[in-house]
Amino acid sequence: MAKETLTITDNRTGKAYEIPITHGTVNAIDLRQIKVDAEDFGMMSYDPAFKNTASCTSRITYIDGDRGILEYRGYPIADLAEQSTFLEVAYLLMYGRLPKKDELAGWTRDISMHTLVHENIKKFIDGFQHSAHPMGMVVSAVAALSTFYPEAKNVADPAVRRLQVIRLLGKMPTLAAYAHRHSMGWHYVHPDNELSYAGNFLSMMFRMTEREYHSNPALERALDVLFILHADHEQNCSANAMRAVGSSHVDPYSAMAAAAAALYGPLHGGANEAVLRMLEQIGSVKNIPDFIKKVKTGEGLLMGFGHRIYKNYDPRANIIKRMADNVFEVTGRNPLLDIALELERIALQDEYFVKRKLYPNVDFYSGMIYQALRIPTDMFPVMFAIPRTVGWLAQWEEMITDQEQKIARPRQVYLGGRGEAYVPMNKR
Ligand SMILES: CC(C)(COP(=O)(O)OP(=O)(O)OC[C@H]1O[C@@H](n2cnc3c(N)ncnc32)[C@H](O)[C@@H]1OP(=O)(O)O)[C@@H](O)C(=O)NCCC(=O)NCCS
Repeated sequence: MAKETLTITDNRTGKAYEIPITHGTVNAIDLRQIKVDAEDFGMMSYDPAFKNTASCTSRITYIDGDRGILEYRGYPIADLAEQSTFLEVAYLLMYGRLPKKDELAGWTRDISMHTLVHENIKKFIDGFQHSAHPMGMVVSAVAALSTFYPEAKNVADPAVRRLQVIRLLGKMPTLAAYAHRHSMGWHYVHPDNELSYAGNFLSMMFRMTEREYHSNPALERALDVLFILHADHEQNCSANAMRAVGSSHVDPYSAMAAAAAALYGPLHGGANEAVLRMLEQIGSVKNIPDFIKKVKTGEGLLMGFGHRIYKNYDPRANIIKRMADNVFEVTGRNPLLDIALELERIALQDEYFVKRKLYPNVDFYSGMIYQALRIPTDMFPVMFAIPRTVGWLAQWEEMITDQEQKIARPRQVYLGGRGEAYVPMNKR
């Protein structure tokens, strides 16, 4: 049997070190023993942006980017999208197994009991300009929740943690819809606990004077599937923010505000908006060859194509593409779809994209569906944050209960000056 170790020779000293390999990784702290002399701090690894560093062990989400595989707790995303509901997937992500019937009923009931927000949260949202970006309102409102539930800081207590998880899952759609209605200058609509998770959200978003609001079942299902597809994606920028901030043992509302802030950035949660803008700019199928030519000469990107992890078709893009037909059957065809389909057809045959393994990602089609559901572009990152709440919370729970985790505190390679003599102001 080959030994599960790595031998490193330090050519500065000629010394060799044998380091254990566990799950295909070496522990960075094992490098510390590599020293030139006793004064030396010891070897570190340098990895800006964590391109090849695992920051945790996890049992939540599996991605094989080369083969286009995404699984939550071992279940393929396509099976969950086809057969499950968002709240069932949320339970799966949080607790690691599919719920039994009564467990799902209890989970659903508990979440729907926590959809209301304190009246002062409404006043808080009222304080924003109507032109405020809804994601800015949501990030702030999530942080504000921590002041309403001071017991949430007892992060070592599993029952306290569970209650905050339920509260956050219950309240996120409410905060999201209230942010939208504030932007529009519309009155707030209370949650309706008789409706499904997605149905209630649509009601809070769009109900006007109707006594009862029922969304179209096909649209409600499409939204639920989009929620499933966005629920978690392992150690991305916002999950990493959730874990890093949560590792200080701050309450989960404050940690989640940081995660949502990370998602607000255009490199993370903003790509579907960029896809829509690109499709609108192309304007017609006949302009596609010219556009592709420009992309190939480096004049721009084909937005919604390419992914840091997926070097194959993003499995979520496939599911959304199929679902688009059901949505457009109800809402009428989004004219941008023809441009998107033709772009994809051409790009998948073009050597430039094939050679670089550039395939459609989740954002290529999701914006068109949100648009068909009458969700404004500004709301897209919020639409991402609603389902990702459970991913953040599952990552947080795993981090808090992991004995190996401590406060996240990276090292640096210091390249600045040392021991400078202070120069008084009049001598500078
Ligand atoms: C997602 C993304 C940031 C991944 O980047 P990455 O893994 O760092 O890949 P790189 O930027 O190193 O790209 C590798 C090559 O493909 C090219 N490329 C990557 N994405 C491209 C795109 N969308 N359109 C055209 N060319 C692209 C790069 O120019 C580079 O070409 P080169 O080797 O000739 O220099 C990148 O593909 C991108 O910007 N895509 C568009 C934005 C998007 O859809 N983001 C949502 C992600 S969910």
